[in-house]
Amino acid sequence: MSILRIVKHGEPVLKKPCPPLDYDSIRLELPRILRDMWDTMYAAQGVGLAAPQVGLHLRLSVVDVRPEGKAQRLVLINPQIIACEGSMFEEEGCLSLPGVYAKIQRHARVRVRALDARGRPFEMEGAGLLGRAFQHEVDHLDGKLFIDHLSFTDKLKVLALVKDLRRDWM
Ligand code: NI
Repeated sequence: MSILRIVKHGEPVLKKPCPPLDYDSIRLELPRILRDMWDTMYAAQGVGLAAPQVGLHLRLSVVDVRPEGKAQRLVLINPQIIACEGSMFEEEGCLSLPGVYAKIQRHARVRVRALDARGRPFEMEGAGLLGRAFQHEVDHLDGKLFIDHLSFTDKLKVLALVKDLRRDWM
């Protein structure tokens, strides 16, 4: 079991959009990468983790929002939001911004298309926390963090807070 260091806001890898991933080129390494990502996500008590958050420039995320308290491991390779509906305004956080929470606007329900851990295409709908996780993870792979959805003034407030918090980040 390997728990990797989680990259924090301000480190360049989080801002770099990840190009589409060629499944065959990582097929052999994928089991190890995923194992480390799951270990890291669960250890940090997160519900999602994108590869750039562990320093890997790969268009790949893992999600487990534990519906009804049971594990539901979703591997998202090259995820795309292909449909969306409604809107919600809920508090969000991110393992790359420990201690920072803010309400942002998201679609209430989305449909995601991706490849799974075996490279098979699938589609899935998500509402509530799962829908938010899908949107949050796709953002990571596009080089965006949830605070990028804030208004200019709200983002300035958050960044002032980040300046204080950063001293405790590892
Ligand atoms: Ni995040």
